Amino acid sequence: MSHDYIQFIEKVHRKTGIDLSQYKEAQMKRRLTSLREKRGHHDFNSYYDALENDSWLLEELLDRMTINVSEFYRNRKRFEVLEHKVLPYLLDKKKKLRIWSAACSTGEEPYTLAMILQPYIPLHQVEILATDLDVNALRKAEEALYHERSLKEVSPDILSKYFRKEGSSYRVIDDIRKSVTFKKHNLLSDRYQRDFDLIVCRNVMIYFTEDAKKTIYKNFNHSLVDGGIFFVGSTEQIFSPQKHGFEVYDSFFYQKGQKQATGNAF
Ligand SMILES: C[S@@+](CC[C@H](N)C(=O)[O-])C[C@H]1O[C@@H](n2cnc3c(N)ncnc32)[C@H](O)[C@@H]1O
Repeated sequence: MSHDYIQFIEKVHRKTGIDLSQYKEAQMKRRLTSLREKRGHHDFNSYYDALENDSWLLEELLDRMTINVSEFYRNRKRFEVLEHKVLPYLLDKKKKLRIWSAACSTGEEPYTLAMILQPYIPLHQVEILATDLDVNALRKAEEALYHERSLKEVSPDILSKYFRKEGSSYRVIDDIRKSVTFKKHNLLSDRYQRDFDLIVCRNVMIYFTEDAKKTIYKNFNHSLVDGGIFFVGSTEQIFSPQKHGFEVYDSFFYQKGQKQATGNAF
């Protein structure tokens, strides 16, 4: 890594709390270099000086680092497995569920979870925590107003049941909105809450280094109840899940190892 780039990511870390050295270097550097060049800076040093003096440039940088693309029912087939296999398994064990949508971006994912759960369990018996690093994304998530392009996978039934048209956009209805709590959380540095039955973390692990991933898997494992399920994105299979305390439950779903019942053998 060039000295100029290392210094830049250290300074950005100090300023924003975001440690870019834990994101895959080639990808991140390419993205930041193109942004730097677009703003007319030949090195990261002068680009950082400009960021210090112009909060808009810093906003732009943060926006480029956090790729917020999302949609409802992203990779639809996986959500069908969630509904027809994972959910019956979870509801068989418990009458209340605690769910975490980590790196939820603008809210499509946690709202999708609420829509899937609603026919099976009263939503006041479900806690859905939805977190992201990016406060701008979280603000949009709370507004719950979406353009058609994020609704491509939404069936007409779901559309009429859970959305209301507002101009050319669609707003998620209050019952669904109320069931999700949004909160800022950095997966690389903040404390992880515990006792989740289901953790959904999709389409963000691809950006992290192998070391960062290992730590995050360990933290998620710790955050799940025994037998709890971890749902990943469709390009994010875990290599050797056992190393991180998981068993394969279905493609893209992992289960936290269950403690053996310890009883008297006699
Ligand atoms: C591509 S979106 C994924 C949204 C959603 N999970 C999905 O699959 O559609 C990636 C999100 O990860 C968030 N993110 C990036 N680094 C993060 C970190 N260190 N901690 C928490 N969220 C992070 C970004 O802000 C962005 O909203």
